[in-house]
Amino acid sequence: MKKDVVVIIGAGGIGMAIARRQGIGKTVLLADVNEKTVQQAAEELRGASYTVETRAVDVSSRESVAALADYAATLGAVMQVVNTAGLSPNMAPVDKVLEVDLYGAAVVFDEFERVIAPGGAGLVISSMAGHMMPTLPPEQDHALAFTPTEELLALPFLQADAVPNTLVAYMIAKRANHLRVQATAMSWGEKGARVNSISPGIIVTPLARHELESEIGDIYRAMVEASPVKRMAPPEEVALAAAYLLGPDAGFVTGSDLLIDGGVIAAMRAGKLPTPG
Ligand SMILES: NC(=O)c1ccc[n+]([C@@H]2O[C@H](COP(=O)([O-])OP(=O)(O)OC[C@H]3O[C@@H](n4cnc5c(N)ncnc54)[C@H](O)[C@@H]3O)[C@@H](O)[C@H]2O)c1
Repeated sequence: MKKDVVVIIGAGGIGMAIARRQGIGKTVLLADVNEKTVQQAAEELRGASYTVETRAVDVSSRESVAALADYAATLGAVMQVVNTAGLSPNMAPVDKVLEVDLYGAAVVFDEFERVIAPGGAGLVISSMAGHMMPTLPPEQDHALAFTPTEELLALPFLQADAVPNTLVAYMIAKRANHLRVQATAMSWGEKGARVNSISPGIIVTPLARHELESEIGDIYRAMVEASPVKRMAPPEEVALAAAYLLGPDAGFVTGSDLLIDGGVIAAMRAGKLPTPG
């Protein structure tokens, strides 16, 4: 008998923590743009007795994501889809951040809607950055939520002259994830499936280490210092929250975002930190 399938896109720090927690007794389909990353991650899981399949995927290519979704459906009932693929503001230019973090997230929702099983759940890892920016004009919120995916990157307020830097691109992309999740909850609901996002704060993974060691590392450390919890978090804490949102206890939760940031956004709202942008 085929096992249920958990698809993990992005085999980095957060993706692997979720794979370890959600993949027990299931088939884990692990996918990443970096072939070496995905093979190493798969070996690690197989060594711990998980059943793992791998595929290369680039979330910014619809064709690539469609092939992944089709392959997932051949393995068994696709019960969980978790998109952790992402580029941080310091890793890539504005257009790449928007392609992967904004457009790519929308493509994953579109293509997995075709194959998600009834009772299934989707999750995208957004970011506390999506809560940092001042609210967008209502028409921009609406456009990010409902514009057909293939037209998203042509929106006037996402053009190079309108997005001053990669941090703003990242904040808009992560805000778009929240809005897209709400819109997607409607169409996934028709298939008997739910979809949510998690907005992590500083989670110690290769991505966060890259930021901490860069010239904005001091900004990260100031965030931790000003926050009520005063620490960073391991990826396992995100996996705990993912287990809730993906599992039966969250049957009434869809179209929602869970902020897990140790209170950094609370500190920002309280005026303890400047609002970036
Ligand atoms: N680590 C943090 O502090 C933190 C905080 C907030 C949000 N996030 C978000 O969480 C998600 C996961 O981050 P992480 O910390 O695990 O990072 P990570 O760098 O460890 O993992 C991200 C993975 O995504 C893959 N990837 C990048 N572009 C891709 C593409 N086009 N298609 C498929 N895969 C691609 C990378 O190869 C990498 O393996 C990201 O979206 C990130 O923005 C992370």
